[in-house]
This record gives sequence, C-alpha cells and structure tokens, in this order.
Amino acid sequence: MIDVNKIREDFPMFKNYKTAEGKPIVYLDNAATTFKPYSVISAIEDYYMKETANAHRGDYELAHNVDVHYESARETVKRFINAERKEEICFTSGTSMSINVIAYGLEHLLNSGDEIILSEAEHASNVLPWFGVAKKKGCIIKYAPIDEKLGIVTPKGLESVISKKTKVVSLAQVTNVLGGMNDSKALAKVCHAYNALFVLDGAQSVPHVKVDVLDLDCDFLAFSAHKMCGPTGIGVLYGKYELLDQMPPLLSGGGMNTRFETCGNILLQRPPLKFEAGTQNIAGAYGLKAAIEYLEKIGMNNIEEYENMLHERLISGLKKLDNVVIYNPYSTTGIVTFNIKDVFAQDAATYFSSKGIAVRSGQHCAKILMDYLKTSATVRASTYFYNTIEDIDKLIECAKDGGNFLDAYFS
Ligand code: ALA
Repeated sequence: MIDVNKIREDFPMFKNYKTAEGKPIVYLDNAATTFKPYSVISAIEDYYMKETANAHRGDYELAHNVDVHYESARETVKRFINAERKEEICFTSGTSMSINVIAYGLEHLLNSGDEIILSEAEHASNVLPWFGVAKKKGCIIKYAPIDEKLGIVTPKGLESVISKKTKVVSLAQVTNVLGGMNDSKALAKVCHAYNALFVLDGAQSVPHVKVDVLDLDCDFLAFSAHKMCGPTGIGVLYGKYELLDQMPPLLSGGGMNTRFETCGNILLQRPPLKFEAGTQNIAGAYGLKAAIEYLEKIGMNNIEEYENMLHERLISGLKKLDNVVIYNPYSTTGIVTFNIKDVFAQDAATYFSSKGIAVRSGQHCAKILMDYLKTSATVRASTYFYNTIEDIDKLIECAKDGGNFLDAYFS
C-alpha cells in the first residue's frame, strides 16, 4: 500500500516550489508531465558528474562503463514491459518520435487504397504521422468509433470498421482526454485476424498500470519517460524484432550503420542501434532506468490501486456539483476532463491556479476530439501516485466556486 506522505519526501518539487500562498502546489497535470524523484535526478547527475563519455563509440574503460549502464537501461525497460528481447527496445526522444519512426518505417508495406485505422480521441502524435504516410502512399484513414458509454474503442467497434484492406491500427491504450483504458489484448486479436499491425500508444498507460507486451501481443508500443517520473527528451519504441528488422530507420547518422561507401551503399546496424542515429540521450537513459526502478519499488499494482481510489473520489466529488460538466465520467484512470458551466476552460484553469492548483486547459493536442465532445476547450485534471486525498478535495472545493473565476484576475 502507498504511504503518500513518505513518497512525497522523494520529490524535491514539493519542497522547493511554493505557490503564491507559500504552500506546495496541488499538481494535477500529470498527464502532461510528472515530477521527478531524487533518485532520477541523481542518476542523471551521476552521468554528468562521474561517468561522462559517449556510448558505443569508445574503447577505454570509462566509455565501456557508460556502454554497460546504457545497455542496462535497455534491459530494465525490457523487463518493465516484459518484452522478449532487449533488442526490441529502441530509445527515442519520446512517444511522438517513436510513432513517427513506426509510421514512416511501415511506409514500405503500404500501398494506395490500404487503410489505416485511428480514433478521433488520439493525440496529435498518433494522428499526424499517419496523415503524412497516408498522403504519401495514397492510403485511407478510417476512424474506429468511440463507445459513448466507455469513451474507448471496443473490439466490437473496431470490427465494425476493419477490413481486409486495413494494414495498420494505431490506438492509445489510454487516450489523454477521455482517459478510458481499452482492452488492448482483445483489440490486438481483432487486428491480427485481419493481418493488420497493431500499434499501441502507451504514453498515458505505461506510467500508471502494468503493461506486458507479450501478453497484449501488440506489434509496437510507444511511451515517454517524462510522464513516469523520468527525464524529458527520452522515450521508448518497442517493436517485435522481426518487424523492427524489416523497417527502414527514419533518421540516418553515426551509430546506426556498420559501413557506407562512396557509391551510396549503406550497411545498417541491426535493431535497436539502427534506430538510434547520432549520440544517444545517454543521461536520459540513466534517468529512465532510475525512474523504472523507482516505480518498480513502489509496485505498479500499488500505483494502480492508489490511483483508482483518487479517481473515484475525484469523479464522485465532481459529479455532485451542478455547475460542473464531466466529459468522461466513465474514465477508469486518473484523467478527468470537465468544464465549469458558462466558464471558458482557460479562465477556469487560471482560477484554479490562483488557488494553487495546476490543471491543463484547452484542447490537449487532441484537436479532432473537440468535435466529438462538442466543445472548444476543456479543463483536465490528471493524478499520479504522489497526489493526496487533500489535493482531490481542494480541486472539488474550488470547482464549486469555479463560477467566480474573475477572482483570479482581481484578487
Ligand atoms: N501529451 C501531453 C498531454 O496530454 C502533453 O498533456
């Protein structure tokens, strides 16, 4: 079980950052990024203070130590998501880069008239790369329906749009505004019955629940370190080895080739190095490894259970308020999207900020979802395991007065 007060001592932000009232911030923007514990910060510092060298390029002892640490980060990710081989783990700059590498890497398998299935709830990172590839190859983008009650794509919904022409289905396991957890294992089965590849955007799921790629049988998984207590600028692209091995890399440069010749011949490295052109984010890999070890120490099951408790309290509290419209009352994760009636989302967020509460407002990079929600902007509160019951209650209390948003400007 989680001892939240003890956990908060691990995060310098709660000590070092004070709101205008001189209090620790009520940070409810964890779907955007999370705070980092000391162990992650010191792992990054260790790389810069005690172990700086390039990776996979040096023949001296210090460089070897860096190689070992960098590869142990890969091994840590492999264990964390239960991949079959460490070569299936490629480091990227984040989820967006991972999905771009996948989309443009699959281009060679796509022909005019082939279908790519997304949903209207996807983040820009899981829409725009596919638009780019579809445009280049003459593919058709189709949208799987979002179940009105659950706010997710169900296997039945996917079956209603998938066809023999579908080559790729790319969906978030948890979307960043609706927050429902889909049944990715069942969705993978539907895809594979049609010989379509299943790409999973795990940016909002991997930080919060145990994700097991072998069990889910997804073909690819993308996620970012910074949403799971790790540093910004590093993320993961997981792919089944044989798919990665066939895929051309998006980026070229040092480290991803074994040889090239004046005539233009290039001999590529095998995965994962083929996808890691240029000097890697080595400090980021040290930080990601430390972040995973930190989460594993707490336990993903404990994190999920604790977040469920916070979620139930938040949803049931907001549901009692007549002045609040909730857009995802069915959400099963820490993401709750709402508006204060007759108050523009940005004004509401400014009001919350004046009370020391950080939430995100706007379209949350999921711009086509706003048509589905029939609103131009929303407020999003998103929790993590270091949030307290008091944080939730403070948000609910302030939402009651959210109509007084002008106080934020004149107080
Ligand atoms: N993708 C992040 C979010 O949803 C930035 O807030």
